[in-house]
Amino acid sequence: MDANLSAALAAPFTLDVNPGHKASSFPNRAGSLDSAVMARAQAVIGGWSGYAPTPLHELPEIADYLGVARVVYKDESARFGLGSFKALGGAYAVAALARQIEADGGSATDLTVTTATDGNHGRSVAWGASRAGCAAKIYIHAHVSKAREDAMAAFGAEVIRINGNYEASLAACKEDAAAHGWQIVSDTSWEGYHEVPLTVMAGYTVMSAEILAQIGAAPSHAMLPVGVGGLAAGIVAPLWQAAGSSLGHMIAVESHMSACMRDSLVAGNPTPLDITEETLMAGLSCGEVSDLAWDILKPTVSHCVTIGDEAVAPLMRWFHHRTNSIEAGECSTSGLAALLAMHADGAAWEQLEMMSDSVILLVGTEGATDPDFYRLTVGVD
Ligand SMILES: Cc1ncc(COP(=O)(O)O)c(C=O)c1O
Repeated sequence: MDANLSAALAAPFTLDVNPGHKASSFPNRAGSLDSAVMARAQAVIGGWSGYAPTPLHELPEIADYLGVARVVYKDESARFGLGSFKALGGAYAVAALARQIEADGGSATDLTVTTATDGNHGRSVAWGASRAGCAAKIYIHAHVSKAREDAMAAFGAEVIRINGNYEASLAACKEDAAAHGWQIVSDTSWEGYHEVPLTVMAGYTVMSAEILAQIGAAPSHAMLPVGVGGLAAGIVAPLWQAAGSSLGHMIAVESHMSACMRDSLVAGNPTPLDITEETLMAGLSCGEVSDLAWDILKPTVSHCVTIGDEAVAPLMRWFHHRTNSIEAGECSTSGLAALLAMHADGAAWEQLEMMSDSVILLVGTEGATDPDFYRLTVGVD
């Protein structure tokens, strides 16, 4: 077996069942990700210049090894040239805010948008602001790399670095927004703040609509990387729309270091945690689930897996050096890492009801969003 794949097999993991899993109660209601909200996002983003569905790669060598029918990888590395699926969310929410101001007789130039970010969401907001002609103030925490900071500044955003973790950057962003009348464009929701993050998640559903068209049906298993849960909710909602109560196994994948969805699903309530160590999978490093995403994921996620960083570098190398090279950034390795580790542990594999006709979706949420780390890791100049 390929040395990079075998390095990933030994990675430790945990697997929990969601006791609240009850797919027949999906909250497909107004005010959540209902059909009209999803259809609008898909129509608007589909009309943006440069829009094209991202590729869905077959991974036949992985499917053969696991003994399943198909393993498919949705590759978001080239989404609108921004390097991650986040291009669909923040920028769409900024466009919606600008459109609203203009509909009210104002000008987008009067708008200042702000957000806290690990990098990818901020890049999308900064890009959205440059498209709409408004100002952007982006808050990052101590561990966000210089390359990610520069990528946001390149769109003309002011980037403000805060000492501390993601939660500290979010607190500073909220305080300054209240003081200056800026509009927060967050990818996470909280009590009293739902409209913008709902729009962000609606943008993400574009990915899932493409996946359904590319696979031809809803997959039997989806490995869903989770930070605050917006991505997972944006994938699950259209799958639910297509499959209804025969929705397959929706499996949340988190880092051991930021397993807020696992803690919440096990407790039955959103349960925040304090992040004391940062995973290499920066986009997954969030200590609190989005309450909008929670509404969608609590009844639909069947299991939650947590993994460490052991498989990140080997799997980035594996994706890069396979025959049809795939540019997979740190977070993009999470689903395959979880899958390989659980396969190596027969009991976990059985619990997930993996069969010879299973179709497993992996979400490659980012490409080389930190180009220096990518080059160093995969060993190219
Ligand atoms: C590359 C990448 N993957 C996955 C995620 C997780 O998405 P969410 O926070 O919506 O759960 C993020 C979030 O920033 C990300 O940047």
